[in-house]
Amino acid sequence: MSNGDTSNNTSNGSPHHHHHHDAPIMKTADDAILAKVATVEAGYYQDPYVTAMSRHASGITTTPTATNRRRQIQPIIKRGTHARVCCMDRAITSFLEFHHNNTNSKAQVLVLGCGKDTSYFRHVLHNKTEQSESTTTTIGWYEVDHPSVIQAKAAIVREAPHVFGATVKKSVHGFSISPTGKKSKTATTNGSSSSRESKKQKQTLAPIIDEGDEEEDEEEGDVVMPMETEQFDAFEESTLESTTTDKSDTSTCHWIQHDLRESPPALVEKLTHTSHFDPSLPTLVLLECVLMYLPDDESRQLLQCLTQLLPHICVCAYEPILGSDNFGTVMEQHLTRAGVTSHDSGLHVVRTLDAQLDKLLACGFTRAAGCDMAAAYDSVLTPVQRRDATKAEFLDELEEWQLIMHHYCLIVAAAANNDEESGDDQNFGALLCSIGESSAMGFDPTKTVQKSK
Ligand SMILES: C[S@@+](CC[C@H](N)C(=O)[O-])C[C@H]1O[C@@H](n2cnc3c(N)ncnc32)[C@H](O)[C@@H]1O
Repeated sequence: MSNGDTSNNTSNGSPHHHHHHDAPIMKTADDAILAKVATVEAGYYQDPYVTAMSRHASGITTTPTATNRRRQIQPIIKRGTHARVCCMDRAITSFLEFHHNNTNSKAQVLVLGCGKDTSYFRHVLHNKTEQSESTTTTIGWYEVDHPSVIQAKAAIVREAPHVFGATVKKSVHGFSISPTGKKSKTATTNGSSSSRESKKQKQTLAPIIDEGDEEEDEEEGDVVMPMETEQFDAFEESTLESTTTDKSDTSTCHWIQHDLRESPPALVEKLTHTSHFDPSLPTLVLLECVLMYLPDDESRQLLQCLTQLLPHICVCAYEPILGSDNFGTVMEQHLTRAGVTSHDSGLHVVRTLDAQLDKLLACGFTRAAGCDMAAAYDSVLTPVQRRDATKAEFLDELEEWQLIMHHYCLIVAAAANNDEESGDDQNFGALLCSIGESSAMGFDPTKTVQKSK
């Protein structure tokens, strides 16, 4: 039934028992990053880190050579990948902005099944320009995945400190990633031409193959920064500041090796005892194509544990919803054959938007909202993002596009915090889960399902 190649999993030596059949699931991190590389290279959006992060990647559904892998990814998949990134980004950006605007607030992001996701680099490490001088927000960023995925990710960043602008240190349960204090040549803000950006990205990637010499890129770094001069200065300053006056490991990221099917308290233990994770802080949990792979029972236990631990938890997830039609059946068979899901996986068990939201409410969240990706495309994405996609590539398979987008969903949820004095406008969870005018996500009231307990 499964033809997954398990022979090349070299991640022995971790304290965790490793299931042989996990190798294909871990490969899905590569599939995700390769789809993102193709999407960025086609000009849908910018990500200066995605190409470097895809080094050595070979997914389960893709062929070995890099050019083939990229060429093989259809425009429809790239458009969907772009939409997926825009949706997760909107949740992250709203969360960070909300807490930036509340002076002196601290907050945390917890990315479960992070794979080779680059959000930390894009949103925290090299996006300090967004932060106004008067605020002193501290963002703690935590990412969790299988040991071998975390190890591979750490090796990639270690091999390319210039691209990531970060250094990697071994920690008890994984690695900690800190800014080097030098600007990344590829650091960027939103809004400049993406194709220009990806050309530049290729140039800057070339030298990283041989071990980088810190001084070497000094002049080049100043040549083409797609930032306003003002922003650039602020960026440099705050980056330096974060390394020179670093007391509270501001903007450090913790990568934690953990099998999400194992006991949730073990994860909590790793987070809190070695990585400065603070359960009392507002915490955004991100799940991007991860619940689908976890056995439904285990993911429920995990979510339940997290809602009990974190009084100010909210979550944003992007997941397939197979429904009961032919499309769903074909996808289910495909992923079962690839050895990445089985009868008890979230993918098979939680098949509709309603079921996804009910699951979150059953796990201790008190409000939840979500829509399928067809609706998200029209409301959560901004007109500029949709225009960028249209400009990047022409898409003529509109029926197929709609069909695919109806089989994925964007869901958010939050647990009521018992702060009696704070009204809904001071409560991020409420804004995240609201629809219409006040919606942080841009949820369209006519196409969004909202539930509460
Ligand atoms: C499709 S990838 C998505 C990666 C990332 N969230 C993204 O969107 O780019 C699924 C990820 O979940 C991780 N994963 C699946 N089951 C896991 C488990 N039991 N424990 C830890 N990570 C798991 C895989 O290793 C992989 O990195």
